[in-house]
Amino acid sequence: MPGIEESKCILVTGATAGIGRALALSLAKLPSKPKVIAAGRRQNRLDELRKEGLETLQLDLDTDALTLKKSVDSILDKYPQLDAVILNAGVQYEFDFKKEVDINKLLSEVNINYTAVVTMITYLTPHFLKLSESGRPSFIIPVTAGLGIVPAVWTPGYSASKAAIHSFTTSLRVQLNDTNVRVLEIIPPLVESELHDDAGTTDKLTKLWMPLDEYIDVTMQGLRNGDTIISTGKSFSLYEKFDKEKDGTIALMKEAREKW
Ligand SMILES: NC(=O)c1ccc[n+]([C@@H]2O[C@H](COP(=O)([O-])OP(=O)(O)OC[C@H]3O[C@@H](n4cnc5c(N)ncnc54)[C@H](OP(=O)(O)O)[C@@H]3O)[C@@H](O)[C@H]2O)c1
Repeated sequence: MPGIEESKCILVTGATAGIGRALALSLAKLPSKPKVIAAGRRQNRLDELRKEGLETLQLDLDTDALTLKKSVDSILDKYPQLDAVILNAGVQYEFDFKKEVDINKLLSEVNINYTAVVTMITYLTPHFLKLSESGRPSFIIPVTAGLGIVPAVWTPGYSASKAAIHSFTTSLRVQLNDTNVRVLEIIPPLVESELHDDAGTTDKLTKLWMPLDEYIDVTMQGLRNGDTIISTGKSFSLYEKFDKEKDGTIALMKEAREKW
């Protein structure tokens, strides 16, 4: 199976911090020298990445489909060689349903983690299918979470949004499996990043999380191999325990549907 080193131009969302930033920088250092477009909202951080030789794009994913369509159109105008996207941007909030829940915050979390990812994929896929027809591989790579397999009850919106994108990714992979569009999935465990700053749990989690460098080494290896599921640690154990067997059922369902 082709790996990410076949890619000429890679868009990474959520590249201004944590996993996305580290991945974008590592991808740009691959011997194959792909063009890497780092996307995020914080302009000062994008400026730093530009100094490191990356292309940058200010992009707020917490928006509507039409705005995202315009963004995708302008990305493809500027980078017609785009052949990989890592949909990494994400937020995580805690909600306690025994107290007041900020519905706007919850809906924004679902929008960033799920709706925007599906919208980006919807608008990018026709471009990737055209590449596929010309014999070129391309990659759609959502970043989900172990909490999408087994939810953390204090982050109900986050866990559900990651479960949803995990399920969507599986369907997309099976739909596109007779094309050159490869649908991979990165399922991180608890990793050093800024994700938990909003909940104020970062200090406590520093004792438990996987150091970012270590995590990126494993993930880059998976991307180079072109592994379908790129995971490690607790998330990988959860995937193996609860999800791996689903593949057989999915194949049977697809077979039955094709006979209708
Ligand atoms: N770290 C973990 O323990 C862990 C575990 C499992 C899964 N994950 C997943 O890994 C991915 C990366 O998370 P991380 O841990 O690296 O978190 P992080 O350090 O908080 O980085 C999140 C990134 O998402 C971007 N982002 C947030 N809201 C955005 C918006 N409205 N529009 C565009 N970009 C936005 C941020 O950039 P700006 O603020 O500049 O926009 C930032 O670059 C997420 O999908 C997360 O769910 C992380």
